[in-house]
Amino acid sequence: MNFILETLQVLALLFWYSLESFVLLFVPTKKKNVSGEVVLITGSGSGIGRLMALEFANLGTVLVLWDINQEGLKETARQVKERGVTRVHCYLCDCSDKAEVYSVADQVKREVGDVGILVNNAGIVTGKKFLDAPDTLIEKTMEVNTMAHFWTCKAFLPAMIANNHGHLVSIASSAGLISVNGLADYCASKFAAVGFAESISLELLATGKDGIKTTIVCPYFINTGMFDGCQTKWPRILPILDPNYVAKKIINAVLTDQVFLLMPKSMYLISGLKNILPTKTGVMLGHYLGAFSIMDTFRGHTKKLE
Ligand SMILES: NC(=O)c1ccc[n+]([C@@H]2O[C@H](COP(=O)([O-])OP(=O)(O)OC[C@H]3O[C@@H](n4cnc5c(N)ncnc54)[C@H](O)[C@@H]3O)[C@@H](O)[C@H]2O)c1
Repeated sequence: MNFILETLQVLALLFWYSLESFVLLFVPTKKKNVSGEVVLITGSGSGIGRLMALEFANLGTVLVLWDINQEGLKETARQVKERGVTRVHCYLCDCSDKAEVYSVADQVKREVGDVGILVNNAGIVTGKKFLDAPDTLIEKTMEVNTMAHFWTCKAFLPAMIANNHGHLVSIASSAGLISVNGLADYCASKFAAVGFAESISLELLATGKDGIKTTIVCPYFINTGMFDGCQTKWPRILPILDPNYVAKKIINAVLTDQVFLLMPKSMYLISGLKNILPTKTGVMLGHYLGAFSIMDTFRGHTKKLE
């Protein structure tokens, strides 16, 4: 096809898809049925991992819970079982350790079956200025927040590809779209997680595997303890999010095959502006929104990272 014809076709489709997206804002999207699906959630021993497990439990899924925290896993499993779900399988797995991820993944495939929905949620934050952060913690941040996504996908994606069916969920962060002073290693790990999830989704589309969906989640601060001490400058524009609200929104995004979920809604505007504004204006906006000072009061979880 020549240049003019192809460009005209793209312009027509651009208009059509934009119209479709606008109409869909007012029409409730049909939710898919995930009953019987094996859902694996990393870092489900606390926080939104646990809350997502409870939400998925209500949908008749088979749950596979991974964490390094034995007690946390037991508590999540107890709460899941309280909801009448018996098919819940807990595994201690340090997602920063590639060999452990592969070995526990093999165990899951043998004992439970193929994973249909993979939620890469485990995450850590050092909360230190880059030069003050010990190398070991920087490495750990990359291993848990990014590299673990590679290894879990390597382990579970082949079965999804064989069935042309599955869903990859990446719990990234708004810090994976917008940089923050004092969060260099965390931002790097989350930008990488977003880039990885987006690229894998394109790779799957390019090979015709359109039955495998992707959801990339980029929330602002959530009240789980991970960012304790941090205060938002303008709570009306950027509120600290309620964990239950976040978990429900994520499940809804999975059920409706939503690719990007940014929270709060103002994040769509802020990340869009960041990409089109001149650099100086973007930096000024960053100042206004607190990106320079937000980590000054960071305490994080009271139980520190080893
Ligand atoms: N809390 C926030 O403000 C916020 C904001 C944006 C994104 N997120 C992201 O959401 C996800 C969940 O965070 P949360 O707020 O529920 O925090 P959380 O600390 O409550 O939960 C994280 C879980 O990951 C587990 N974990 C840590 N290292 C692990 C490892 N090596 N292997 C396996 N499990 C491990 C922890 O034990 C914990 O249960 C993280 O990826 C985080 O980066 C959090």
